[in-house]
Amino acid sequence: MNHTDTSTRDIYNSSAIVTHYARATDLQPAERTILSRLAGDLPRMEMLDIGVGGGRTTRHFAPAVKQYVGVDYSERMIVACRQLFPENGSRRFEVADACDLRGFRDASFDLVLFSFNGIDCIPPQNRTQALREMMRVLRPGAHLVFSAHNSNYLAQHQRRLRPRLSRSPRRMLKLTKRYLTFQIKNRFVSYGPDVTEAFVFDGAERFGVPFVYIRPDEQMRRLRALDLRDVQMFGSDTGAEYDPSEAVTCAEPWAYYVCRKSAP
Ligand SMILES: C[S@@+](CC[C@H](N)C(=O)[O-])C[C@H]1O[C@@H](n2cnc3c(N)ncnc32)[C@H](O)[C@@H]1O
Repeated sequence: MNHTDTSTRDIYNSSAIVTHYARATDLQPAERTILSRLAGDLPRMEMLDIGVGGGRTTRHFAPAVKQYVGVDYSERMIVACRQLFPENGSRRFEVADACDLRGFRDASFDLVLFSFNGIDCIPPQNRTQALREMMRVLRPGAHLVFSAHNSNYLAQHQRRLRPRLSRSPRRMLKLTKRYLTFQIKNRFVSYGPDVTEAFVFDGAERFGVPFVYIRPDEQMRRLRALDLRDVQMFGSDTGAEYDPSEAVTCAEPWAYYVCRKSAP
């Protein structure tokens, strides 16, 4: 079965997008929180960094862990990573799809990361398959960390795209075009506090990629249903941990989830 959305993969293989991601260097607030919480265990960990892009997370995690493998289904992203971070005995990169990690043995990693909403590029019908693959390669008790767009944020996102008055007619035109593209591309999408999941062209990657947006309480429920335990959630902007009871109203643009594979 082919789980890959080839048009999305083609976009992540384009040189402009690869260059964009290869320039990114900083960790996001939630990633900083998570890195510091895991810090004591990292030197003993074998880590799989999925959807590694241009290696933004490589520069922070690879030096901290025992073994680091970065994968991406975009061949050009992997070429860029190898140029920026030459492979050595403890760090390597491979082309691989999150939905099909057959190149990796069962229970072979202590930490799997899928950062910056990469999982949301996977069509909704294949998302559980990707999570199952990530669980398969994790050792019992090991950590899964990923982020996902928050459907509670969509109304705010739409408001923010509304063009504001600008002295520059060129800028006004650009903003108006962006807003109208959002409205047209998402004309059949409904969102609001009652919607738990939406598939949206939010404007990232020049409106070329539809992303899953999911309400954090629903994402946490699904992780528990997959028998993942100790599910924690962190806001993208504040980096703060949310109590599970607050997940339903969290309105940060995306959320980071940290959970563990159950021991048998
Ligand atoms: C939003 S970018 C984030 C890149 C990088 N993690 C960062 O934080 O800068 C998403 C990345 O996930 C990769 N990706 C998306 N779906 C994937 C899949 N099914 N398997 C592997 N990589 C995937 C894309 O090629 C892209 O490099």
